[in-house]
Amino acid sequence: MKVDGKDLRTIWLDKDEKTVKIIDQRRLPHEFVIVDLATVADTITAIQDLYVRGAPLIGVTGAYGVYLAALNAPDRRVGNDYLLGEAQRIKAARPTAVNLAWAVDRVESVVAQATGGDQKVLAARREAGVIAAEEVENCRRIGEHGVRLIEQISRRKEGQTVNVLTHCNAGWLACVDFGTATAPIYAAHDKGIDIHVWVDETRPVNQGTRLTAWELGKHGVKHTIITDNAGGHLMQQGKVDLVIVGTDRTTATGDVANKIGTYLKALAARDNHIPFYVALPSSTFDWNLKDGVKEIPIEERDPDEIRYVHGLDQNRTTRVLICPPDSPAANFAFDVTPARLVTGFITERGVCPATAQDIRGLFPEKFVEPTAANG
Ligand code: MRU
Repeated sequence: MKVDGKDLRTIWLDKDEKTVKIIDQRRLPHEFVIVDLATVADTITAIQDLYVRGAPLIGVTGAYGVYLAALNAPDRRVGNDYLLGEAQRIKAARPTAVNLAWAVDRVESVVAQATGGDQKVLAARREAGVIAAEEVENCRRIGEHGVRLIEQISRRKEGQTVNVLTHCNAGWLACVDFGTATAPIYAAHDKGIDIHVWVDETRPVNQGTRLTAWELGKHGVKHTIITDNAGGHLMQQGKVDLVIVGTDRTTATGDVANKIGTYLKALAARDNHIPFYVALPSSTFDWNLKDGVKEIPIEERDPDEIRYVHGLDQNRTTRVLICPPDSPAANFAFDVTPARLVTGFITERGVCPATAQDIRGLFPEKFVEPTAANG
């Protein structure tokens, strides 16, 4: 996407091929800072402390983390045990987004098949790059498929503004480019459809206020920030045509883990007969899980993310305490929306209803039962 006229992605390998460059998302929207990752420790810090966030981007960062592990292996001894250990450390950085384990495992298994230190380093670099490129293409296609839903609504409303509500940031900042939930929105905007986005602020760390609003604004998309609790009211007033959110992990049966508060939006959408779509690349499906509420690990983060807010005061970024100093807080980062509340999925292969059967119809190869022949 473009930032002030310049084409940018959220992560890339530097020309020296020794450092990975990322946008430090903790500093947006007030400061735009690029940070270098040179080691596995840097990678883990970046993922844990939300320099990078969002399922696809966490996955690609993890993939490059395995490359950095291979590159920095003591004496170029990229032994499988060494790499497995480093991969394990990276995967433990955040638990809910399945893309992290998926991407790390994918690079790790390609490296395990290569022989010789240099070949292993090369294999890791190549695979991380392939994953990044695939995720960009997946998001682009999500945009192509999802825009048809927006076009239908626009036609029905005879060209009047289509109002989309989104939660958290499933924009290009959460991915490598385009975004998941935002890809259809950008595609609609670029086609000249009159579109407006209600942006949930997304407490506690305000991915909506800070990130979604910033990137929509940079692309010229009309948007309005609302409190996390406003969505139900707007739906009752007929001010929301469509909800599109992203996801951090979705089961093979269609249960959706996403940023805390998503479930309540799905309930309100159902009560008001408003379509509720989830946009995701196939890397965010967890093909092994059937019951999201019981099986998806929900990350609990530092309570200080609730107790303090960050902002700008007289041109300086600052952090302020907003609760009684001794009050405890509990910071559940995600919730699970059951498949029955989801109208459909927007994927790189098309749009489908949120049922196990329809997901299987789009991705049949993921459901091949193991046999003696295929392992
Ligand atoms: O804690 P975060 O910022 O990593 O939250 C994850 C998300 O970005 C969202 O839940 C998002 O909606 C899905 S990831 C594209």
